[in-house]
Amino acid sequence: MRIGVIGTGNIGLAHARSLAREVAGAAVTAVFDPDRDRADEAARTIDARACTQVRELIEADDVDAIIIASPDDLHAEQALACLQACKPTLVEKPLAPAVDDALALVQAEARLGRRLLTVGFMRRFDPGYSALKAQLVAGLVGQALIVRNVHRNRSAPYGLLSERTMTNMAIHEMDVNRWLLDDELASVQVIAPRPGPDTPAGQFDPMLIIFRTASGTLVEIEAFVNAHYGYEVTCQVVASRGVLDMSDGAFITRTAAALRGQDIPEQWLGRFGDAYRRELQAWVDAIRGLPDPVGATAWDGLAATLAAQAAAEALRSGTEVDLDSPTRPALYQD
Ligand SMILES: NC(=O)c1ccc[n+]([C@@H]2O[C@H](COP(=O)([O-])OP(=O)(O)OC[C@H]3O[C@@H](n4cnc5c(N)ncnc54)[C@H](O)[C@@H]3O)[C@@H](O)[C@H]2O)c1
Repeated sequence: MRIGVIGTGNIGLAHARSLAREVAGAAVTAVFDPDRDRADEAARTIDARACTQVRELIEADDVDAIIIASPDDLHAEQALACLQACKPTLVEKPLAPAVDDALALVQAEARLGRRLLTVGFMRRFDPGYSALKAQLVAGLVGQALIVRNVHRNRSAPYGLLSERTMTNMAIHEMDVNRWLLDDELASVQVIAPRPGPDTPAGQFDPMLIIFRTASGTLVEIEAFVNAHYGYEVTCQVVASRGVLDMSDGAFITRTAAALRGQDIPEQWLGRFGDAYRRELQAWVDAIRGLPDPVGATAWDGLAATLAAQAAAEALRSGTEVDLDSPTRPALYQD
């Protein structure tokens, strides 16, 4: 499968390298980034060519499938162009930060009658979350009652804006908890402590985002963008007959020289490298027709954006906000 990568920053370059070196059945043939130096450097390291226009990449005969790893606000327009070219496309999260844009993509795909879009919610491929889900599905601890999620970044990649914390960062939890519980997020409230010394006026960090699902489970997310010490993601499911704890699947406790401790990754790539690789392999296999699990659909992308925007509204209003979901098109009914 010949793949084109749009945007060769942090994650675009990581995906391009992984496809070129680790993923079976895939080659990267073209890249595009308006930063020509970045595009040329990426093309050189993976032996691809750098396109000068995004359209050139999308329409190229030697590009069978596309990854969109540009900034959030560009995803919708670029994904629509990929749909028009009828090419399977992995859109990095979020599908789109705005509900209307995400909905337009779902409607465009429904009109086509084919699921061409996959959203880069790679935690669905993480061994830690997969183990949690397997134990829940096997009924080992009964019914999930409360899910406690922690998501801390060392520093904000985009300055600190609470709405972006919802649409760019905590959106991972909004997707993975829907998937984990096989349940829909139904309402949300947000509370925050006093602003810390690094928090700009009018913004909040950390925040506690608390969803209630359609079947009544509480999903609590601590989203802390400027946590300083490193990157950490944990998930604990409190259930009717036990507790499941994915402290952090990637950490190893080390005891040495009168000290017991753990290394903490500074960035997300250190924690989720395996999940990204599995996600890409599953995406390539699914397009090649092999019977592997596929990832989040455009409908899942829309559901996560709806949740993120409802959380932003709950923060602004200080009230509990109901999620208002459109009717699910037949294309996404299974
Ligand atoms: N799944 C994940 O865990 C994960 C992790 C990191 C980033 N992401 C997502 O990936 C996207 C990129 O994030 P990043 O950290 O790599 O950002 P980045 O800033 O490192 O890279 C973005 C790249 O897009 C390029 N760009 C700007 N305008 C463009 C255009 N019109 N067309 C194509 N490229 C353009 C920039 O020059 C830059 O090289 C974001 O949407 C982010 O949410 C997802």
